[in-house]
Amino acid sequence: MHRSMERWSEQFGPFFRFQVGHRRIIGVADPGAIGTILRDRPDGFRRTQLLETVLDELGVGGVFAANGSAWRAQRKMVMSAFDTRHVKNYFPALSRVTERLYRRWSAHAASGVAFDLQADLMRFTVDVIAGLAFGVDCNTIESEGETIQTHLNHVFPMLNRRLSAPFPYWRWLRLPADRALDRHLAVVHLEVAALIAKARERLAHNPSLKEAPENLIEAMLIEREAPGTRLTDRELAGNVLTMLLAGEDTTANTLAWLIYLASSRPSVMRRLSDEALDVLGPAPFAERLDQVSALNFTAATAHETMRLKPVAPIILLQANEPKVIGDLALPAGTVVAALMRGGSMDERYFERPRSFEPERWLGPAWMGPAWMGPAWMGPAWMGPGSMGPAGSGTPSTSRERISMPFGAGPRICPGRNLALLEISMVTSMLARNFDVIEMRTADGAQVDEWLSFTMAPSKLLVTLARRRSTPGPAQGMRAG
Ligand code: HEM
Repeated sequence: MHRSMERWSEQFGPFFRFQVGHRRIIGVADPGAIGTILRDRPDGFRRTQLLETVLDELGVGGVFAANGSAWRAQRKMVMSAFDTRHVKNYFPALSRVTERLYRRWSAHAASGVAFDLQADLMRFTVDVIAGLAFGVDCNTIESEGETIQTHLNHVFPMLNRRLSAPFPYWRWLRLPADRALDRHLAVVHLEVAALIAKARERLAHNPSLKEAPENLIEAMLIEREAPGTRLTDRELAGNVLTMLLAGEDTTANTLAWLIYLASSRPSVMRRLSDEALDVLGPAPFAERLDQVSALNFTAATAHETMRLKPVAPIILLQANEPKVIGDLALPAGTVVAALMRGGSMDERYFERPRSFEPERWLGPAWMGPAWMGPAWMGPAWMGPGSMGPAGSGTPSTSRERISMPFGAGPRICPGRNLALLEISMVTSMLARNFDVIEMRTADGAQVDEWLSFTMAPSKLLVTLARRRSTPGPAQGMRAG
């Protein structure tokens, strides 16, 4: 779907119109116009009514789906759980989860057996989010058999299917895939209820948490019980599920893309290994936050990966009121598909736009990761400029305003600092200890982009070996 839209924008220009069933949609690939639209929220634009309804039907109503005043209240709550202080305090637990992945990959390397890269990465991201947002040590990395992640994996493909269906058939007819989704969701909702019950118990046993909640779920429970609250039980559970879904595939798929792209450029892999060895020394993974902050090339590789492979290549929005974008008049209710890779592939903004060159993110514009503190002036999509009021300022053409993998404006991804931290932790652990000796797709075809709400690479089977003293090139694959 996203590739068809990108082709249409190449053929018809940065603004075009298409139709899905009876729904008319305006495609926008111009990064300046996209920036203006993303910043004009929540008043000018909203997430689409369809997305809000479909997510709500699945019990995933929460900060991602909400609009207007409901969104404002939930966003404030969520942001407090993902601020720099929380992410910093969470670092020791993140280091422990990374250690578990290191042990799992050491076992894979010792056996020489190819493993499913994305499945392992998703275990990692679920454990991280459960630890940070819910204060629970899930340890799916070291559990065999079914985990919550097994069931979560069925949600996004169905969400995507329902969003692109010409009409909401599932309200009248449950196909086998819809019935399977109901079964997976039932298990997930039970797990979510258990997480909420555990947090309720913690609050009951330790009343001081009411003054200083330690994670998102505790903060939400306190808000839920506050007099005059507007947060409902359903929204509370929906936000727990939103965090699991928003934090799992996005980060895991970005990491999978990074490992795939870096493995296909030996010089990049070598530089990642050298940097990891230099910064981590004898430790197999980062044990301190200041080590992660020193991984500049690793961070640059993450940004270059997200420029070429943004896991959200399309953001759907809907005009709340009549709007003018460029020379287009959009009536209220118009649905806009923002094509997030338009500018990234344009040579006016990036030299050799199709080439994977992490070096382009090094240098004065890239001054360090966001968790280093308020003094740091990061890329525009992280900094105060991007959080500004609707329509603030003319969009600049700096590259951070062109490549916007986390979105922009007031609804920019609240998990971005955590995601960048996770990406650096896993990438440096991999590059420090292992060589990717083979990477192939499960079906033997070329690596392709698959959009099931987030954009994933084809299922990748990877064989690791303990790192040789001098890291060598990965074999058996080429970047597509
Ligand atoms: C590399 C990893 C990630 C990428 C590329 C990513 C990307 C995005 C994008 C593009 C949006 C939409 C932004 C907009 O509308 O302007 C978004 C929203 C969101 N993301 Fe992420 N995300 C990532 C990781 C995470 C993580 C780890 C979490 C936390 C658990 C998270 C939680 C959310 C939430 C709650 C929203 C909805 C925000 C709102 O509507 O106010 N994301 N993300």
